[in-house]
Amino acid sequence: MIVGIDIGGSTTDAVLLRDGEEIIVVTIETGDPLAAAAGALGKLLSTAGGKLADIQAIAVSGGGARCLEEVLFGVPVIKVPEIHAIGVGGSSLAHKSSALVVSLGTGTALVSVEGERIEHVGGTGVGGGTLLGLARHLLGVTRLDTLEEMASQGDLSRIDLTVGDIAGGPVGIVPASATASNFGKVRSDPTPADKALALINMVAEVIFTVSIMAARARHHQEIVLTGKLTRVKRLRERIEAVHPRRGESFLIPPYAEFATAIGAARAVIQSVAS
Ligand SMILES: Nc1ncnc2c1ncn2[C@@H]1O[C@H](COP(=O)(O)OP(=O)(O)OP(=O)(O)O)[C@@H](O)[C@H]1O
Ligand SMILES: [Mg+2]
Repeated sequence: MIVGIDIGGSTTDAVLLRDGEEIIVVTIETGDPLAAAAGALGKLLSTAGGKLADIQAIAVSGGGARCLEEVLFGVPVIKVPEIHAIGVGGSSLAHKSSALVVSLGTGTALVSVEGERIEHVGGTGVGGGTLLGLARHLLGVTRLDTLEEMASQGDLSRIDLTVGDIAGGPVGIVPASATASNFGKVRSDPTPADKALALINMVAEVIFTVSIMAARARHHQEIVLTGKLTRVKRLRERIEAVHPRRGESFLIPPYAEFATAIGAARAVIQSVAS
């Protein structure tokens, strides 16, 4: 058995792969990276009913991986660069040999996969951390489910400025409904619900805009979304509602939330097999 652990900026995920396929997953919050890795491993084994001795290797990735030594509880630790883990995880879960894989985590990372070739295209600091941080600063809300609940009553037309608001209709290829300026309608008084919706909408719009540009730069048609921010229903729906003119498509594969941990484990399995 191979265990994959992703020690991310917000959460630590651990996955157990049996025969590279059957997947068992657990998540805990990342506090201290070493404690998080040890805790996630313990939780995983108790969930799966396995023993430490059954684990051949622990593949670790994510920002906290550097805090681990070469061995954890007597099991060899293999460090997998995060970009590689994101690429392998997203593309294998989506069954694509070529795709742009986007990790929607605390921040957002964009990874190009073309067969064996996995490259970091770039990223943006606008991501899940931004959503939680601004929710706290603007609204005093710390829970994502509270933010989502608030957003369900929101109205974007009181807070975002559209192209139609400015130009009175579409401009060239841009429809009247497109956002001209997120939070740009300064002359109206939005409610907290409007702000909650506009915040989710802004993070979604930044992510899909940079994703489409990166996909075009690297000639990808498929954009695979991974990471825990994909759990936020409104954000997911906003991105899925986008129909780019050049036909790029977004997809969220099963286990997308755990893609980096799964990718780390699969990368180690592949390197042993090759
Ligand atoms: N149950 C959840 N627990 C924590 N964060 C969640 C949850 N559901 C959604 N999120 C959102 O997802 C973000 C974390 O995503 P994820 O766990 O994929 O990132 P990470 O791996 O910790 O970070 P990074 O990859 O940027 O280092 C949070 O910032 C939050 O906005
Ligand atoms: Mg991550």
